[in-house]
Amino acid sequence: MKNSILSGIQPTGELHIGNYLGSLKNFVELQDEFDCYFCIVDLHSLTEEFEPGAAKRKQILDIAATFLAAGLDPAKSTLFIQSHVSAHAELAWIFNTITPMGELERMTQYKDKSSRQQANINAGLFDYPVLMAADILLYKPTHVPVGHDQIQHLELTNTIVRKFNHKFGQTFNEVKIYAQKPLRIMSLSEPERKMSKSEPGSFINMFDEPEEIHKKLAKAVTATDAPAGQMPKGVANLFELLTHFGSPADHERLMKEYQGGTIKYSELKQVLGDAIANYFAPMRVKRAELEKNPDQIIKIFTAGAKKAQIVAQATLAEVKQKIGLI
Ligand code: TRP
Repeated sequence: MKNSILSGIQPTGELHIGNYLGSLKNFVELQDEFDCYFCIVDLHSLTEEFEPGAAKRKQILDIAATFLAAGLDPAKSTLFIQSHVSAHAELAWIFNTITPMGELERMTQYKDKSSRQQANINAGLFDYPVLMAADILLYKPTHVPVGHDQIQHLELTNTIVRKFNHKFGQTFNEVKIYAQKPLRIMSLSEPERKMSKSEPGSFINMFDEPEEIHKKLAKAVTATDAPAGQMPKGVANLFELLTHFGSPADHERLMKEYQGGTIKYSELKQVLGDAIANYFAPMRVKRAELEKNPDQIIKIFTAGAKKAQIVAQATLAEVKQKIGLI
């Protein structure tokens, strides 16, 4: 049987170029090799502060359009929205009853998020990894491509697999992390930290207009202290971005200038800004077109949900039968 993949992205705002390299770009490549399910995890996104109504709807539509503009293809992959497939919430409930509180209390993402949003430590935030386990196991994928920050959640998913099988009989197989190349896309303003959308000035979004990209790069820090003979972190980050988005010839030329001490950072930033703007130009056009026609986006994701429901319902039926629900 073909190996299969499930992954999810939260609709919480525009993706920055680090998010793109870390997730969507890989997803697009994986489509030809695996049977893929890609899910917009809107229910997960309710665990953080958000503006209800039109603003939330826009976040969901934006990420759906971003999936399509980046090259996720409904003819190859199953693209859907989590809340359209009610089996996710149902299976999460069942998994709740076999997940020890102590396991959830250990989750570092829960600890991080609850320290960041102390006024809103809701039960959903605590339960987040159980819903994630349900997202995954409904489709019985062999692999799950996620970033390093999600490894602990996948380990919990595999704990749930073992507990479920032990209590109710062999039903799920443990999933493997689809190891993505570790990426170090750093903040433009504080290059010791990762690029993050919670830090203004640190990121460039996938769909920023060229002028915006150049403006953000102009402010990027290059003059950080570095031990003698080492490239300052901010400069290294600009070169790293150039390897992803620019031409090898530009990279080589600018690197030689750096080594020869003749580099002008303004030129590095100009070349990099053009490279990023050009790289995303076709996606920018495609997304603008899609956003003019939200009904079309909804149609594609509704069709995806129909496909996902068939698989999810079969798993849920098997689970209920094993447990003895009638
Ligand atoms: N927790 C994941 C993240 O923040 C998002 C997610 C939810 C997910 N459900 C998933 C990722 C299932 C992979 C598989 O990145």
